[in-house]
Amino acid sequence: MHYGGDYNPEQWEEATWREDVALMREAGVTMVSVGIFAWSRIQPAEGRFDWDWLDTVLDLLHEGGIAADLATATASPPPWATAAYPGMHARDADGSIFWHGSRQHYAPTSPEYRRLAGELVHALAQRYASHPAVVMWHVNNEYGCHLHYDYSDHARDAFRDWLRQRYGSIESLNRAWGTDFWSQRYTDFDQIVPPRKAPYSHNPSGLVDFKRFTSDALLELFTMEKQILREHGATQPVTTNFMGAFPPADYRRWAREIDVITDDNYADPNDPESFRSAAFSRDLMRSLKPGVPWILTEQATSAVNWRPSNAPKAPGQMAALSMQAVARGADGIMFFQWRQSRRGSEKFHSAMLPHAGRQTRTWREVTELGSVLAALPTLPAGPSGARVALIFDWENWWAIGNPDHPVRLDYAHLVQRWYSALHRQHVSVDIRGPEEDLSGYGLVVVPQLYLVSDAAAANLNRYVADGGHLFVSSFTDVVDSDDAFRDGGFTTVLGPILGMRVDDFGALVAPAGPAGVDSAGGALDGPPSPAGPGQRHATVSTPLGPVVGQYFAEELRVLDATVVGTFTDGRSARWPALTTRVSGAGQAHYLATIPDDPGMTTVLRWALDRAVIAPELPGLPECVEVARRGSVLTVINHGAYPVSLSLPGSNLLTGDPLDDVTLAPFAWVMTDQPTLEEK
Ligand code: GLA
Repeated sequence: MHYGGDYNPEQWEEATWREDVALMREAGVTMVSVGIFAWSRIQPAEGRFDWDWLDTVLDLLHEGGIAADLATATASPPPWATAAYPGMHARDADGSIFWHGSRQHYAPTSPEYRRLAGELVHALAQRYASHPAVVMWHVNNEYGCHLHYDYSDHARDAFRDWLRQRYGSIESLNRAWGTDFWSQRYTDFDQIVPPRKAPYSHNPSGLVDFKRFTSDALLELFTMEKQILREHGATQPVTTNFMGAFPPADYRRWAREIDVITDDNYADPNDPESFRSAAFSRDLMRSLKPGVPWILTEQATSAVNWRPSNAPKAPGQMAALSMQAVARGADGIMFFQWRQSRRGSEKFHSAMLPHAGRQTRTWREVTELGSVLAALPTLPAGPSGARVALIFDWENWWAIGNPDHPVRLDYAHLVQRWYSALHRQHVSVDIRGPEEDLSGYGLVVVPQLYLVSDAAAANLNRYVADGGHLFVSSFTDVVDSDDAFRDGGFTTVLGPILGMRVDDFGALVAPAGPAGVDSAGGALDGPPSPAGPGQRHATVSTPLGPVVGQYFAEELRVLDATVVGTFTDGRSARWPALTTRVSGAGQAHYLATIPDDPGMTTVLRWALDRAVIAPELPGLPECVEVARRGSVLTVINHGAYPVSLSLPGSNLLTGDPLDDVTLAPFAWVMTDQPTLEEK
């Protein structure tokens, strides 16, 4: 179990480094991520490297028994680099330059950036590949974090090359993009530009391709650095830190290139439900490389500096969120950062060692957590025990986010809400892609999978044919991988197994929220307006009671399915809304709307019942979380009040029975609880 944080010794004098190592030992720190933003200190000028300070830091860490996750330091090129090679700067869609003076201002496809970054990594690998402190390599940092998309001329050229590779001929691109629409037909790849500022909507297929390209271009930077490390004899695992469900990078594809998944997560202490979104990120990370424990590389010990209001974590909350990560497969708990900065943009960001020193609650909680993690037995790497898979797909995210749809949707937020509905019911979930192997799951939940590739269609059909239960909700199976309608209407590739077709989407007025998309809780805004213009929601009768639907009241044509729920109000009253089709041992359900939060819980309880999937533990309140890691169950109270519980087994750390246990706010217990199959 790794414990530590980002370590930025370049911000401090040598005397402080010695104190750092002593205090790290006091806190139980075992590993630090060293020098993530130290490029300008390592390489003060092109061709000149200053190793003395980094030699000393790594030697001091090693003497102190602390391992280094050594950064390749390529995330923030020094001012000398962009001054010498101004073409390195990234540009926005308007053509404005992202200047240096902050970080991540480089164009990922710039040949100068790639050359300079490569030289730096080459030099670092040569010097430290066999340094005994170095146990892992931390490539770059949060690729794409601030600068999701680059529209520079380098990006333009690389995008053209990428399109040449994908399509082979301009004719095939024209076909895929449907460029006869609005006179967009190209006669040469060299006429194509990234989706820069334009008077009106860009070609939607081109937008999706630009996002595919961007994810690939960023990944190429990672693999370039990894290859250099390997060529110079580095044998340690190589990683780059993810950011949960992050739009510009298809982490599912990236995960294949990454030895250990690492993730950064900053749950908002102001949001009482943020533990559920944190749980989603943790399950996503675990699901990206099943069976390989991941590492939480960054979180805050208390407040961050970048929200409008930066609340501190409540006493115990940092440990509760850390144990949540462990419970969901992490073998490392780390923070941004070890020592709070004295200068710079992040001086108000909390750290393991606060600016206010060691007589602080934060330091006490940091050292306590260090001892708890050190006392944990080795935990099983898996399996998660999840019988439910929730489908989450980047390509769909990109396509469904395009403009000009019946109603604007925030896909990631919707998937999170579907996840939360399962989390509230204490059901373990893996987050899978639509083309991944789904055999073994009792229920697969498919929310808003607007874009369904041919491979995904075959996979989902096979899953049901093999006896699985599929739950599909509206605005699914609308387009193919080109973001184009297929022949034959909608629901063309899943329709046969579902026994129905969607004829019309029946958009409702979307719930209020930022930019007209869903509000945080999916709450209804304003009084019901069930009929006529301005209809906001449509009630569905389901076998478990009425459910409020939002966004869509789709018009279904039922072909070969049983109607188990109908719309009961509004313009779609009496129309089918929830259908099911039994095919062999498999079942495929379709819901023609997106429910509000209580409605999601209801319809998923119905689907879980049909698939005979029970909660991990019965009767827990919603503020109590339960997570399975192999045979180990972790139960955490995220609520504001103590909760008395009767749990099976005994406390993994103390051996005490748990049949009558009270969990204070943010308290947790771990218990060994074999799955039914293991029993
Ligand atoms: C990100 C970065 C860190 C730091 C933190 C602050 O996660 O990787 O360098 O800026 O945010 O929360």
